[in-house]
Amino acid sequence: MIMDGAKTPSTAANLVLLGPPGAGKGTQARMLEDAFGLVQLSTGDLLRAAVTAGTEAGLQAKAVMEAGDLVSDEIVIAILRDRLAEPDCANGVILDGFPRTTVQAEALDGLMADLGAGIRAAISLEVDDAAMVTRISGRFTCAGCGEGYHDTFKAPAVEGVCDKCGGTEMTRRADDNAETVESRLRAYHAQTAPLIDYYDARGVLARVDAMAEIDAVAQELNKIVRQAVV
Ligand code: AP5
Repeated sequence: MIMDGAKTPSTAANLVLLGPPGAGKGTQARMLEDAFGLVQLSTGDLLRAAVTAGTEAGLQAKAVMEAGDLVSDEIVIAILRDRLAEPDCANGVILDGFPRTTVQAEALDGLMADLGAGIRAAISLEVDDAAMVTRISGRFTCAGCGEGYHDTFKAPAVEGVCDKCGGTEMTRRADDNAETVESRLRAYHAQTAPLIDYYDARGVLARVDAMAEIDAVAQELNKIVRQAVV
């Protein structure tokens, strides 16, 4: 019997990907989406969409993102809350770039509790800062489907043509320059890295060597996620 106010526990497999800029969160989240039928939720993508749409949140976020600083918790939590409430998230999500502060992690716990769900695994992609500038400066994305590429590490099979959707328009992000990457790395170490201990204390942390090649990292993640989703 369901008591008043009690929630039916959700079977959704919700995952968090932690890691500094360029660690491979987006690359791996898209591969996990395909492999496990989960939905990638990237707060960076949601914020960039808000900037493009010229919403109030987007207008406030634009300069902050260009400087490589963190957008306010209030804005990001509101955007994430709205997206999580959409029906396609019901089977589980891969949070890519959220949470990034302890305030966001605690807000996420509250949102998950409201849904009768929880975080099954928080996976920390461990990398060397020095390699991140190279990764980020070579990155580009298909404007049609969002598939991510790299000049050296993940070039499309046919130059200028997206492997996934056949699109030919590729874009590079405004914040993918050496100066902004330094600020983004500083923000990561000061505000986001403490979340590794936050999730370790909750018994859901897994660490992956993300300096390995993309497919090798994906294999490690697949093992962790397979255990987390059962
Ligand atoms: P966001 O869009 O989240 O950017 P980020 O965290 O800086 O991470 P990136 O997207 O740069 O890197 P990634 O780890 O996804 O790497 P990728 O897979 O692309 O955030 C942007 C901004 O939005 C923030 O600075 C902040 O202002 C704001 N923001 C977002 N969320 C926020 C929040 N929660 N709170 C406050 N503010 C927020 O890989 C990079 C490149 O390397 C690619 O070209 C890829 O092909 C290549 N690559 C990937 N893996 C490998 C590998 N193993 N070997 C070789 N190359 C690889």
